[in-house]
Amino acid sequence: MKFKIKRSDGHFDIFEVKVTPHMSVLEALFQIQDEQDSTLAFRYSCRGAVCGSCALLINKKQRLACRTQVSEIAGERVLAPAAFGPLVRPLLKTGDDILIEPLPNLPVVKDLIVDWEPFFKHYRDMQPWFIGNGTKTETEMLMSQADLEKVEKYAACIQCCICYGACPVVSRNKDFPGPAALAKAWRFYADTRNSDTEAILKRVDIKNGVWACNEVYRCVEVCPKKVPPTNAITGFMRNIIKHKFKAIF
Ligand code: SF4
Ligand code: SF4
Ligand code: FES
Repeated sequence: MKFKIKRSDGHFDIFEVKVTPHMSVLEALFQIQDEQDSTLAFRYSCRGAVCGSCALLINKKQRLACRTQVSEIAGERVLAPAAFGPLVRPLLKTGDDILIEPLPNLPVVKDLIVDWEPFFKHYRDMQPWFIGNGTKTETEMLMSQADLEKVEKYAACIQCCICYGACPVVSRNKDFPGPAALAKAWRFYADTRNSDTEAILKRVDIKNGVWACNEVYRCVEVCPKKVPPTNAITGFMRNIIKHKFKAIF
């Protein structure tokens, strides 16, 4: 099977891969690097969909290379995402080859490796840590099962940047924090043990904050861990409005 891979200077190299049963895209990249081009650069670590470091644009879709099986995507025809407009959705990929590109919306360091710093800067700006109310307790601060369920799907994020690479707002506005950073802010906002909720609302209630989101759900669609960032963003919008009404009356 042919793999068409984007290189640092923007041109594509074509490699013939001997596909084995259940081979992942990451394993195909190893084979290319071992047998055909040792200079091919890509990032990985866990090989088990846990570390998030192998995120790539595979057949024009943001995916984890270690979790994507070659057999599942061979011959795939790919339509542009719905965000292109409901009436005209061009075909982005037609051939039988497998197209591998670096994750969009981030600067390329080498071949398939991108610089994650813009993503992590926004992530840090959200101050994604727990702030208690300062009172010392004899026991742990426990949550009810129901309260835990409200935040645990947001805590499942592996910081893979896939949603950041798929977000149409990030592609034109690098001041927008992006889906993962906002989802993480919600994870701490919705945590009943956190005493810092007003500060979190202020952090996201800015021109390029939650109000810049187009609510097109691309982030929800592509997340490999089923985190729903758009729900977090609309949750913030509702709570900001409620908070402002409370302040008036
Ligand atoms: S929200 Fe999902 S897609 Fe986005 S960084 Fe976290 S795990 Fe990756
Ligand atoms: S819903 Fe908002 S944050 Fe998610 S991809 Fe769309 S514009 Fe980006
Ligand atoms: S190598 Fe860790 S998620 Fe793919």
